[in-house]
Amino acid sequence: MSEALWLVVPAAGRGRRMGAQWPKQYLTLAGKPVMAHTLSRLHQAFPTARLCLCLDSDDALFDPAWVPFADWQRVDGGAERADSVAHALAALAGRAGDNEMVLVHDVARPCVSVDDLVRLYEELRHDTVGGLLAAPVADTMKRDDGAGRVAATELRQGLWHAMTPQGFRYGLLCRALATARRQGLAVTDEASAVEALGLAPRLVAGRRDNLKITHPEDLGLAARILSAQHAEGSVNATASCREKR
Ligand code: C5P
Repeated sequence: MSEALWLVVPAAGRGRRMGAQWPKQYLTLAGKPVMAHTLSRLHQAFPTARLCLCLDSDDALFDPAWVPFADWQRVDGGAERADSVAHALAALAGRAGDNEMVLVHDVARPCVSVDDLVRLYEELRHDTVGGLLAAPVADTMKRDDGAGRVAATELRQGLWHAMTPQGFRYGLLCRALATARRQGLAVTDEASAVEALGLAPRLVAGRRDNLKITHPEDLGLAARILSAQHAEGSVNATASCREKR
């Protein structure tokens, strides 16, 4: 990785859907906070990247010991996720070049694989627009009528789950978020702001187990995913040792 890479991790959410005592980034997963897992995965993939971490200004739970990056800064989050990301981009002004890559990754996705992170970055490095990790929709999709009944079945062909990281050049991302804000568009990810400029972000197929911890049952699911990934890693390592012998 020769050119500068910037990581923005929005972690200023309150996680109300979890119904837990603490925001979900501070819940314990396999012995450490969700945030520590997420930052560790990012660091394994991009050890020399520079990190901008968005935290609630009242956050008293954060511990800097969880940050493995040498070059990092904390910024205050905003009212919505897009505002938190915009604060991070503003904090990078004068440091990040317009053509440098920014990967935005939700703190609530601790199971993202290092292979997917590296592959995403490699695919986006030469892309003029940028893009995101995503997974094709497997289930039949229903739209509700607002009263708990099916109003319609949506065609799932061509539908993808948008995940993170999402990566775009610094200049383009600043322009996209500023334009979305000016137009009053509510954007829940970076890609939709870029799409609103008339551009088509690249969909990079990622593992389906890049779960976003959102609901109470997700914490147990994430623990099982991490454990399966560790087992998979040791199985793969054993297999490659055998191949080498
Ligand atoms: O609530 P949701 O899961 O959609 O949040 C996605 C990510 O955005 C989480 O990592 C959360 O901490 C972050 N977020 C933020 N600032 C907000 C709201 C959410 O950084 N105001």
